[in-house]
Amino acid sequence: MVSRVIPVQSFDLVLFGATGDLARRKILPSLFHRFQIGQFADDCRIIGASRSEMDRKGFQDMVADAIRTFGQAGEITEEEIAAFQDMLHYTAVDARGENGWDALATHLRDDVVRAFYLSVGPSLFPDIAGRLRSTGIATPDSRIVLEKPFGHDLASAQALNAALRANFEEHQIYRIDHYLGKETVQNLMALRFANSLFEPLWNSSHIDHVQITVAESIGVKGRGEYYDKSGAMRDMVQNHLMQLLCLTAMEPPARFTPNAVRDEKVKVIEALNPVAPEAIARGQYRGPSGEAYRDHAGNPNSTTESFIAMKVEVANWRWAGTPFYLRTGKCLRARESEIAVFFRDPPHNIFAEDTGTGGIKGNVLVIRLQPDEGITLRTTIKDPGPGGMRLTGANLDMTFADSLPEAGRPQDAYERLIMDVIRGNQTLFMRGDEVEAAWAWADPIIAGWSEANDVPQPYDPGSSGPEDALLLMHRDGRRWRGIGD
Ligand code: BG6
Repeated sequence: MVSRVIPVQSFDLVLFGATGDLARRKILPSLFHRFQIGQFADDCRIIGASRSEMDRKGFQDMVADAIRTFGQAGEITEEEIAAFQDMLHYTAVDARGENGWDALATHLRDDVVRAFYLSVGPSLFPDIAGRLRSTGIATPDSRIVLEKPFGHDLASAQALNAALRANFEEHQIYRIDHYLGKETVQNLMALRFANSLFEPLWNSSHIDHVQITVAESIGVKGRGEYYDKSGAMRDMVQNHLMQLLCLTAMEPPARFTPNAVRDEKVKVIEALNPVAPEAIARGQYRGPSGEAYRDHAGNPNSTTESFIAMKVEVANWRWAGTPFYLRTGKCLRARESEIAVFFRDPPHNIFAEDTGTGGIKGNVLVIRLQPDEGITLRTTIKDPGPGGMRLTGANLDMTFADSLPEAGRPQDAYERLIMDVIRGNQTLFMRGDEVEAAWAWADPIIAGWSEANDVPQPYDPGSSGPEDALLLMHRDGRRWRGIGD
């Protein structure tokens, strides 16, 4: 098989917050896996930076531990870890003070890609961006990488963007939404724009509605304090589900270039209608004796939603009359994320219910993000065997792991995204105007809840969410797909 590994340019990657949770769980193991498959030149360097006083050896040991604990199962040898450790350096830097910046500057080379990954709390983003610029450490080609939350409303997102743009150009800023790094999310673009089969049908004449579900089985225990200030709307809908909606609904870009793709996504967000309160169902998990959100959040009176379902309308020519139903929540029946596209029934139905055939079952294209990444198309076929013309549903099913076994170990989203930073490809990163447009849509919805003193409806842990979510669909004569079925 031809190697799929395309080596990246030599780089100096400075990881701020290098001893933090995200760095240990995701970023460092992802870098290791890319090193492991031979994507790095020998002189690539990863420079840990954080407040902790630690020497190089201490950092190398910490990273080795992180890889052993959080690296993907499979072959990881101690030799590989030791070789990766040679790329690691460390310097203590005070993000808000003077200390450490000169030492950091001495680590960096001029003739390689410079990337600064800010794996730190968002309140530090402006300070670090400013220091990188004022010390001259950031060059005009350097990249800065940040991860959500990008503000908690439009005003704070605008302030953050202004602080970043005072020090970096937009083409240097890489805002991570890790959903865009997921294999299936990119496959959505391939499916739509590399096949002639679906695109002619991809509009309101042929699609009845779309359901986007990101269900999680775990609750918020351990991170309740953060979560309670954000809730499902800010934590998931404004970013991850919005991105899934954009990729499903956007027009084909003229070219597969970062700005052409992102221009089309922004147009989708700008076309969204305001969402009326009755088109939203909010929930909070609260079992009779089981797990309770309010305990996990440490806030007995919390009105933050751990579940939300909503009907969203993309008001443009392609989608008028085809609603998008979004749903996400914690402590649900299963961890399952998918985009389900429900096609309309044939215009003339010769197999109506009263013909004794059982009726047609309806075409549904399901794009599965997790688990078992893949695509399923539900079709109606004749029930095989004797007994006349009886119809039944059958799936054309493709799981990527089964269909393309040579692709090997699935990549974590971070692996792909960090390599795109080094390559300088911003297609899978959020542009500043995209983030602001999403907040401009979300803000009035969130404000409406506090004005109305809205209280989320309780739902049982392990269920599919609150009753109101079912009613939301029911009123439109539709049903949610089961979670974990
Ligand atoms: C994060 C949210 O951005 O995404 C979490 O803050 C959520 O609340 C997580 O659990 C989900 O990511 P994934 O990749 O596990 O679906």
